[in-house]
Amino acid sequence: MALQADLYHLDTVAAETTPVFSAIADDLHSKGFSIQHGVLPPHLLDALASQAQQLHHYDPAGIGREQQFQQNQFVRTDEISWIDGTLPETAEWLSWANSLKSFLNRELFLGLFSFESHFAHYPPGSFYKKHYDAFRGEANRVLSVVLYLNSSWGPDDGGELVIYPQNNDDETVVVTPLMGTIAIFLSEEFPHEVLPATRDRFSIAGWFRVNNSTAQRVDPPR
Ligand code: OGA
Ligand code: MN
Repeated sequence: MALQADLYHLDTVAAETTPVFSAIADDLHSKGFSIQHGVLPPHLLDALASQAQQLHHYDPAGIGREQQFQQNQFVRTDEISWIDGTLPETAEWLSWANSLKSFLNRELFLGLFSFESHFAHYPPGSFYKKHYDAFRGEANRVLSVVLYLNSSWGPDDGGELVIYPQNNDDETVVVTPLMGTIAIFLSEEFPHEVLPATRDRFSIAGWFRVNNSTAQRVDPPR
């Protein structure tokens, strides 16, 4: 009986996620990025949003990994908290990301291997200047995902994500950080920035990576 219920649950999850996963795959194939709205069930969005607001241990965000890590107030002023999936809502988020990973590997042969993500809080006035999430040839972050967790957001609130598909100012994609909107793009291809927000802005940023394992150590996340 319990097994039957679980199978039914898996079926409904699959039925609900497949159309948006297909739309994401189509967009990534044709243009390298995808903006989707109303992604994830409302109960999960609410749980993630309250988690983001309640967190007490945000760290100042930095640039670069491990030894190269540095804080730079000129580039970004948000604060972050890495997600380990120990809470039910973050576990469900990781499970959603894992389903997306399997789907995209099947459809687009991306070879995505691991996923890392963190909550981000941009206090009023914070920004993240134009940057890439990965550099060509470093073969680390392949696909960037940003999920927004703000239940209302108006034109005066600032804080938009701006993507530069052609790396110039003539053509930009502007994303309002509204609850349930998700932005997904190839990490090496798209410079992007977060404009200064005039109020608290919450999101989850995540990255799918390919396997960088060497003989000495298993692929280290972060
Ligand atoms: C990032 C990032 C975009 C956003 O964390 O690398 O670009 O809209 N975030 O929060
Ligand atoms: Mn980024």
